[in-house]
Amino acid sequence: MKYTSSTTEVPDAPAVPRHVAIIMDGNGRWATKRFLPRVAGHVKGVEAVRTVVESCARRGVEYLTLFAFSSENWRRPEEEVSLLMRLFVTALEREVSKLHANNIRLRVVGDLSRADEKLQGMIAAAERKTAANTRMTLTVCFNYGGRWDVMQAVGQMVKAHPGATDFTEEQLAPHLAMAYAPEPDLFIRTGGEQRISNFLLWQLAYTELFFTDTYWPDFSAECLDEAIASYQHRERRFGRTGAQLAEKTS
Ligand code: IPE
Ligand code: IPE
Ligand code: MG
Repeated sequence: MKYTSSTTEVPDAPAVPRHVAIIMDGNGRWATKRFLPRVAGHVKGVEAVRTVVESCARRGVEYLTLFAFSSENWRRPEEEVSLLMRLFVTALEREVSKLHANNIRLRVVGDLSRADEKLQGMIAAAERKTAANTRMTLTVCFNYGGRWDVMQAVGQMVKAHPGATDFTEEQLAPHLAMAYAPEPDLFIRTGGEQRISNFLLWQLAYTELFFTDTYWPDFSAECLDEAIASYQHRERRFGRTGAQLAEKTS
């Protein structure tokens, strides 16, 4: 299926967001508030992932994208980075069969060359196993950065059009890491910060943004419903006037 680009055509605005993208932030602060090590927050965060995957699938969301590790998170203390890597391996070991049983397709996007061989192998196996599943696509962004994505896409695009010097958005878009998905309808960031932190820079052009102070480990089905309800009250104009929209729907 080919999806509409929000800048070259006016896309539809589904009542239930077709694609939800989440920056899962606040694990460390959740733990610190409880006098626990930051790692306890990351462990608890995996539980929240399970809840949100299930809730999104139930609500008919077709694509759920989760920011798990950014290209800048390598700047953290070595101990925390290695723990996050181990946690990712454990989560894959434990969760992939459940995802498969629930007809959920798993994709992992980002610069995977920095993941160790074991992890790369596990990711490839998990993607292969769940490739034909149709209920929902869960994308985990790992060592992902919006700028990395645009740059790798530019590189591929240039190679695909030898000698060309002028390019269009339509030529770039198929090379983005998540070209298989429509642009996100709803973006959620937990943990109180109101920034994009180098997440999906290109794809968020017309996404509705929702920020909540809730720390990621506390994110529940109710929090998801609150975000979806907020989304449903937005007027998605894609550059047009409100009057034009009213005319279309009357
Ligand atoms: C998000 O929580 C998880 C990752 C970035 C891997 P944080 O670890 O950033 O938690 P805070 O923002 O320090 O509370
Ligand atoms: C964004 O959170 C990345 C992930 C949730 C994976 P950060 O905690 O790294 O973002 P900043 O540093 O507060 O912008
Ligand atoms: Mg953070």
